[in-house]
Amino acid sequence: MTPARPVRWCLLIALLAVPVRAATLKDAFTGAFRVGAALNAAQFSGEAPETALAVQQFNTISPENALKWGPVHPSPGRFRFDGADRYVAFGEAHGMWIVGHTLVWHRQTPAWVFESSPGHPADRETLLARLRDHIHTVVGRYRGRIRGWDVVNEALAEDGSLRQTPWLAIIGEDYISKAFEFAHEADPAAELYYNDYNLEYPEKRAGALRLLAHLKAQGVPVRAVGLQGHVRLATPTAAAVGDTIDAFAALGLRVNVSELDVDVLPPAHEGDAARPGLDPYPGGPPPEVQRALTARYAALFATFVAHRAALDRVTFWGVTDAASWLNGWPVPGRTNHPLLFDRSGRPKPAFDAVLHTAPR
Ligand code: G3I
Repeated sequence: MTPARPVRWCLLIALLAVPVRAATLKDAFTGAFRVGAALNAAQFSGEAPETALAVQQFNTISPENALKWGPVHPSPGRFRFDGADRYVAFGEAHGMWIVGHTLVWHRQTPAWVFESSPGHPADRETLLARLRDHIHTVVGRYRGRIRGWDVVNEALAEDGSLRQTPWLAIIGEDYISKAFEFAHEADPAAELYYNDYNLEYPEKRAGALRLLAHLKAQGVPVRAVGLQGHVRLATPTAAAVGDTIDAFAALGLRVNVSELDVDVLPPAHEGDAARPGLDPYPGGPPPEVQRALTARYAALFATFVAHRAALDRVTFWGVTDAASWLNGWPVPGRTNHPLLFDRSGRPKPAFDAVLHTAPR
């Protein structure tokens, strides 16, 4: 005896009424913010097993290293764009929002950039000319294809003052505004960002707010601040993250979470000698750490969703735990578990918890 029609209709209506949860990060947060990952050369060259996972889950990508000064401009007058070209082509092939990272940084910039001859510092005019040449060449090459640039990365010290770098020592404080000026000249349509870490901590955040308010008052075309988001299981608090997003939004800036990962290991320090506690979870995090990671990512994404009006993007700094920079940082021989996908590319419980925070 077939059930009466109303019963079947009721079942169908009940099924349709259940919200179908998106199975990917990019789909879950569509309408809120883009979700992305930093890719290494093997991943954007399609040579890594997790390449397919990156295409499935993310709608924006950042280059972990391919567009830093060292790899693309290793010596005077010599540019190497093979890796960066593959990175941009990968993003275009998959219809992704392509980010450029980074034009000005105190790391991975070859020594020659700051020298007039070995061991002798260049003068202001020389370094400005080199900076302009680099930015016009690199940004100009991908004009209209790379949609947003981390123009200046990590220009602040932990106390909020300007970090003592060769850029500051040789050019002066206006190296920052000059870099944005050159990038805007090279691609007027590109979004331009200031990118830094630990901006959730009051002193450094205050320094960044001062810097960005000054840039905006000068008419510098900075669109967004990148909160890198290299966090620990408990710090900074999700509330501090939310307050930080609000603080930069109040300046009229957009906000990107640009390099998100959660360090699950006990603190270590550069120079630590190998000791038993240094690599506590070589085979994977114990259940209590996995639970803590799940709760941490759920709280962070609940905060991102609550502040989605100010957020353009949340980018993870890596795809799976296997290639994370946090393996072996700050000392070699540490096995970390900072992302949503484990070493085999399997989603962790944190992945499902993040999907559950998505707006209906
Ligand atoms: O490509 C060379 C290779 O040819 C050489 O054999 C090898 C050994 O010397 O080094 C390779 O370069 C390494 C590069 O990663 C690519 O693997 C550099 O030594 C190494 O320092 C570099 O580390 C990167 C680090 O930035 C320093 O640039 C990490 O992968 C990358 O995840 C990390 O990312 C930074 C962001 O750009 C800025 N915010 C902080 C974040 C974490 O430090």
